[in-house]
Amino acid sequence: MKKTRKTAAWSPSSWHKHKAAQQPQYENAAEVRSCLEVLRNKPPLTTRGEIDRLLAELAEAASGKRFVLHGGDCAELFSDCRADVLRGKLQVQLQMSMVLTYATRKSVTRIGRVAGQYAKPRSRAEETIDGITMPTYRGDLINGPEPVLEARMADPRRMVEGYHHGAASLNYLRALIEGGYADLHHPERWDLGFIMRSKNKAAYSRIVDAIMDAIRFMDTIGAVDSAERLRRVSFYTSHEALLLPYEEALTRREANGAHYNLGAHYLWLGYRTADIHGAHVEYLRGIANPIGVKVGPGQAPEQVLDLVRLLDPKAIPGRITLITRLGAQRVTELLPPLVQTLQKSGHPVLWSCDPMHGNTESLPDGRKTRRLKNIFSELNQCFAIHHEMNSCLGGVHFEQTGEAVTECIGGLLKNAGTLDRYQTACDPRLNRAQALEMAFLIARLLRLHRTP
Ligand code: PEP
Ligand code: CO
Repeated sequence: MKKTRKTAAWSPSSWHKHKAAQQPQYENAAEVRSCLEVLRNKPPLTTRGEIDRLLAELAEAASGKRFVLHGGDCAELFSDCRADVLRGKLQVQLQMSMVLTYATRKSVTRIGRVAGQYAKPRSRAEETIDGITMPTYRGDLINGPEPVLEARMADPRRMVEGYHHGAASLNYLRALIEGGYADLHHPERWDLGFIMRSKNKAAYSRIVDAIMDAIRFMDTIGAVDSAERLRRVSFYTSHEALLLPYEEALTRREANGAHYNLGAHYLWLGYRTADIHGAHVEYLRGIANPIGVKVGPGQAPEQVLDLVRLLDPKAIPGRITLITRLGAQRVTELLPPLVQTLQKSGHPVLWSCDPMHGNTESLPDGRKTRRLKNIFSELNQCFAIHHEMNSCLGGVHFEQTGEAVTECIGGLLKNAGTLDRYQTACDPRLNRAQALEMAFLIARLLRLHRTP
């Protein structure tokens, strides 16, 4: 079979002619049309200027001058659109990025899985609960999680609600950043209690002391620019481009003639919707936003290269991030041929590692979990492989939250019996202590691998 595909003219709706996986069945077509019309008339959540700036930052990351920290919930809930939850998410990501800045000596670009990460791909369309077969939960943008038929029916009004929750979330995040919340001069905001109980206490404490020293030094010499930069960080939003009618309705033609998805800064193509002939690829190829492409064990290197060429025919630096999620067991087998294929093609891509989605396992009670040791092992191998191949791992991708949940095993959570605050609507997330511990581990790794 011919792998590449012919490309006809693109428009925000040209995906309608392609097979769209993972879409809900709406009952009332007229209601869908009227909700989409409402969305088309809403003001955008992001601007072309911000998106172009992110693209330029990602181009720097691809060439090793910057590092990208991409993370957040697996699935955001509308009910999580609350001040404390959003503050917690921003805080943990800022703290992680501070540690990574220290470790990489590079600027860090932060992208949240936030303010729109409301739609989830599912492996099954239906499930049976208490003898009743009903559609599976596909994320708050589509239906409700309650195990009753009524909640599980796809409701188009949720798309309008999703827009409003995204807008309220982003508005608050912007206000926190603008108002100086990002100022990390206050060690009391760091909440580092977990360090004291960690076996790596001495190493982590040294990193924190070094960061604090650097901040104090800048304050002392009056390095106004640097201090100001620390206070006012940039933060970008992202979500999986999954529910295509919603994404289309938030796509706008800008004055430069290009189409931008102004519902987020960055969008990614999920592993389950990466069919090169499919509607998701068709939609994403035409928008000007930077795009992430999840790469899993089922994709051959040539297939990935074909996707990259279709999504980025002009080979624009920063446009494509390949987010590998190959699993700790298989990364040494699968990553080198992939890197080699891309290197040989000369196509510029930013490499990122998602050490979460290839390392999910099920507990006897059916819940999903992930072990920190596997997450770290995939990261460790990924850094080493890129380093050995003269390639550059320019970013990492985590599922994490600022809340004190217990969903992943490791750190102070020794076994499945300690997972008593299991709250995720989808995949297990790192809690704040685990996420920070991961940043400290990466910091040690990067300093170990650093080329002079
Ligand atoms: C996700 O990022 O939550 C996800 C579903 O990932 P993937 O498409 O890589 O499985
Ligand atoms: Co997930």
